[in-house]
Amino acid sequence: MKKVGYPDLPEHIKEHEKLIAEITHYQELFNEGKTDLSEDILVFLQDWLTQHIKVTDKRYSVLFNGNNIS
Ligand SMILES: [Fe+2]
Repeated sequence: MKKVGYPDLPEHIKEHEKLIAEITHYQELFNEGKTDLSEDILVFLQDWLTQHIKVTDKRYSVLFNGNNIS
C-alpha cells in the first residue's frame, strides 16, 4: 500500500488496529469464561470482514491494478 501511494493508509491501519483490539477483548472474555463464541461475535466478525473487504480493501485494489501489482 505504501508502494502504490495509497492515500488512506493511516486510516486503514487504524481499522485493522481496532479489529485487533476488538478480537483481543473477545479473546480475553472467552479465556475468562465470561463469554462463549456467541452469535454477537460471529456477526461482528462477519460484518467487519465483509464491509472491510468489499469497501475499504476495494479502494486500493484500483491502485494495485493500475500499478501491475496483484
Ligand atoms: Fe485491510
